[in-house]
Amino acid sequence: MGGTYYVTTPIYYVNDVPHIGHAYTTIAADALARFRRLAGESVFFLTGTDEHGQKVERAAQERGLTPQALADQMVVRFRHLWDRLNIQPDDFIRTTEDRHRRAVEALFQLVQEKGDIYLGEYEGWYCTPDESFWTETQLVDGRCPECGRPVERLREESYFFRMSKYQQPLLRHLEENPGFILPESRRNEIVRFVQGGLRDLSISRTTFEWGIPVPDGPGHVLYVWFDALTNYLSALGFGQEDPGTPYERFWPANLHLIGKDILRFHAVYWPTFLMSAGLPLPRCVFAHGWWTVEGKKMSKSLRNVVEPNRLLDGYGTDPIRYFLLREVPFGQDGDFSHRALIERINSDLANDLGNLLHRTVSMISRFCGGHVPKTAEVGAAEQGVQRTARETTEALLDDLETLGFQPALKRIWEFINSINKYLDERAPWSLAKAGDESGVGTTLYTAAEALRIISVWIWPFLPDTALKMRSRLGMAEESPPLSLDEARAWELLPSDSAVRPGPPLFPRIETDEVAEIKRAVSEEVADSDEATAGEGGTPTETGKKGEAEMPEDEVLQEGVALIDYEAFARVSLRAARVTSAERVEKSRNLLKLSVDLGDEERTVVAGIAGSYTPEELTGKVVVLVANLKPRKLMGIESQGMVLAAEVGTGYALVTLDHSIPPGTPIQ
Ligand code: ME8
Repeated sequence: MGGTYYVTTPIYYVNDVPHIGHAYTTIAADALARFRRLAGESVFFLTGTDEHGQKVERAAQERGLTPQALADQMVVRFRHLWDRLNIQPDDFIRTTEDRHRRAVEALFQLVQEKGDIYLGEYEGWYCTPDESFWTETQLVDGRCPECGRPVERLREESYFFRMSKYQQPLLRHLEENPGFILPESRRNEIVRFVQGGLRDLSISRTTFEWGIPVPDGPGHVLYVWFDALTNYLSALGFGQEDPGTPYERFWPANLHLIGKDILRFHAVYWPTFLMSAGLPLPRCVFAHGWWTVEGKKMSKSLRNVVEPNRLLDGYGTDPIRYFLLREVPFGQDGDFSHRALIERINSDLANDLGNLLHRTVSMISRFCGGHVPKTAEVGAAEQGVQRTARETTEALLDDLETLGFQPALKRIWEFINSINKYLDERAPWSLAKAGDESGVGTTLYTAAEALRIISVWIWPFLPDTALKMRSRLGMAEESPPLSLDEARAWELLPSDSAVRPGPPLFPRIETDEVAEIKRAVSEEVADSDEATAGEGGTPTETGKKGEAEMPEDEVLQEGVALIDYEAFARVSLRAARVTSAERVEKSRNLLKLSVDLGDEERTVVAGIAGSYTPEELTGKVVVLVANLKPRKLMGIESQGMVLAAEVGTGYALVTLDHSIPPGTPIQ
């Protein structure tokens, strides 16, 4: 390929912490960016945060913070989650940055110079959570047609954008560029909407202050969508004195990846702003579908918002990335369920991929002295493997061209299973018994080489797993970039390199653990204030955000919720000495600790295996939440919780001086 590729995600509102829906779009964009890099393109992948507007202003007020302080807190949550999910954007744009303001002003100026901005008066119904004005006729039963919530009557002076002028040009563009809006059903929706007529758009507000001031328009701030959409330009340096190469190289964007909830803004408002400014239009806007949870809409009142950090604690990064992209055709709605996720982990990841790697490496250890063998005679079966590998690489390029994450993964797994079958049929264990050394060598080399190729293909989707596989196969612990050309070649894996056997890549989750893990993950969701805060952005099938339905102190953000002393005094904190610690079998994250409370011994299960070895813990004096209701984690009753600071992607325990006797109350 060798060209450039610019892919963006929406910039997410900072009125709340990220949830699984935000993670979905961003994982998809990351996988695509990685795939395009594999294919040799120069990629720019952008994500970021949308920090202005009334919604953020109000959320901050409720928490007793300035909007900037709220944004600063939330951005940390987003960045941290992207790190944990192994998402590697080239830039992260915040709309409160100066470079963004300059780009917005520059775009505004171009539109103004075109004569497309005028001062008028707006009277209409306003839905604050959606930041949308509606006319009387658009309301449904007197409520917001997008989200069904109450609207307020507002009349204000406003700057308008002559969107009506661009109805015909936009329709023409839609006709001439069938790939502009995808999937096709979404495109048809937009065509019908535009055919229905475009009205001029109010693009300024005087009712709140948290935004970019309209240039030479005192008292007016820019409407949040004019501000937000421009992020796609500002991150490239548009509007700076010398925009330099990123803008010139990467605009127009190849792809704006979004959820279907914000299609109209991207498919109607954004292209008309750009047409007016005389700038090229993005090549494609792809609106993906909506996730529900266990068959229901994610909603604060149902307490079922999936908090990605808890999922990652329970299942790990690559299984989550894999599940989200494999489970549902991109563009369609999907349902998240623990059962479906666990089934995918057990069948596709543990049984198919994990097992193939494990058996290949074990047999190389057993039959070939731990060194990758040489191929001797290549027969029809081996030629078949090589041919399928070549064909698969090319087919993957086609799949990803149309964002076919699911068909791509299915295709890779067909290949994985064909190699498992090849091993079954060639039965190297029997060949070894019969003393057929060259047969064993050829078979195991073929399987190992196939695994090397698989590692290249899966790198965009399961980046950690790909690198682990390569290391197990004895390859140098190189860091990416990998290249698809490597997948086109055969016999790149050096014979003689020493394989590195290790534990299974994906431990199976046994059926009797399913309910427990599910409970643990969802209890964390229900219990943690992080999660309740995360439920503020309640997505609905048709529209945007839900109202807070939780008692006020529960929805407030960590660190700023005010509770009275009585509430705090109900928590019993005590000094506890760790007397022993061990790993919990089949769990990546959990350690089982025995702690001494002076008058009793307790068992505590803590998700800190990524940060501490059991040996390091023994003897530490930690802080135990001693009156937490016991609960079972992986079959073990945990009788309390130890306090820890979240540091990067891990934890640092809160420890006390050794002189403090176990059991001492902490207030
Ligand atoms: O709309 N299923 O930000 P936002 C799938 N700031 N995807 C989901 C989802 C779900 N249940 N819930 C959210 C905004 N998403 C504006 C965007 S862009 C210039 C400004 C994803 O924080 C999906 O990508 O409400 C959706 O479009 C986005 O989060 C909305 O994020």
